[in-house]
Amino acid sequence: MRHDHLLTAKQLSRADIEEVLSRAREFADDPAAHADRHPGALLALCFFEPSTRTKMSFETAAKRLGGDIIDMGSVESSSVKKGESLADTVRVIEGYSDGIVLRHPSQGAAQMASEFVDVPLVNAGDGAGHHPSQTLLDLYTIDQHAGLDDLTIGVMGDLKYGRTVHSLAHALTNFDARQHFISPESLRLPRSVRYDLHEAGANVREHEELEAVLSELDVLYVTRIQRERFPDEEEYEKVAGQYRIDAATLADARDDLAVMHPLPRVDEIDPEVDELPNATYFDQAHNGVPVRMALLDLLLD
Ligand code: CP
Repeated sequence: MRHDHLLTAKQLSRADIEEVLSRAREFADDPAAHADRHPGALLALCFFEPSTRTKMSFETAAKRLGGDIIDMGSVESSSVKKGESLADTVRVIEGYSDGIVLRHPSQGAAQMASEFVDVPLVNAGDGAGHHPSQTLLDLYTIDQHAGLDDLTIGVMGDLKYGRTVHSLAHALTNFDARQHFISPESLRLPRSVRYDLHEAGANVREHEELEAVLSELDVLYVTRIQRERFPDEEEYEKVAGQYRIDAATLADARDDLAVMHPLPRVDEIDPEVDELPNATYFDQAHNGVPVRMALLDLLLD
């Protein structure tokens, strides 16, 4: 992979993705056997928004590679609270570290921050923009269950604001994938993403009902309907109920359907689905460690 920073899935070629996934498979075989890869490397975690999976799996990955992390901590306890700009913050932190992982509520923040630093910077989520390292672990998980070519995937939920969806949709244009997007009209993919997919020649369909495509799917990627985005609570209740899955919903699905979710979930997947062989979302979250080990290994090299 020949990139200084990882900012969006759009920059990833098929060769880049295959390189990360191949290296991740090596690390997954024995994650504890690679502490000689980057001894002493320091990764700075700068999270301006909450995170469990992304932050902790990057921390685990850095430590598994023989490195360590420094953590900016919460916004409230940092000098951001005194009015320090993001540009100044990352310029200072690059002097303390060998790489930066940044999550920020503003779309485009990682792109802007990357222009101020020479150490590798990973976009760990920028508002409703992108979350490319999540996409790499999503692709790793899809590859384990269904393969990345001749793939039929349904992506359901909040497609408008879902950054994991935007990144995954772009990345899948590198493969022979049929992408079905299932959402209420109000939460369709943003026009800009639809335009990019069209330009990339992606095989894309949009639906309002899961039933229209469920039986065709190899993978169903569920996302949280983000209550906080709805101006009207009643409107939220109406659509959220339609996009919730339980064991009965999956009765018409193929036996080997893989149900994925970037997590956290709220109530869009009933916990009874956790007991079905289709549920892959906890394995998906665990795949974050070998995949982020591979990504850091390539970027720090
Ligand atoms: N999937 C994901 O980004 O989870 P976190 O918000 O917990 O990092």
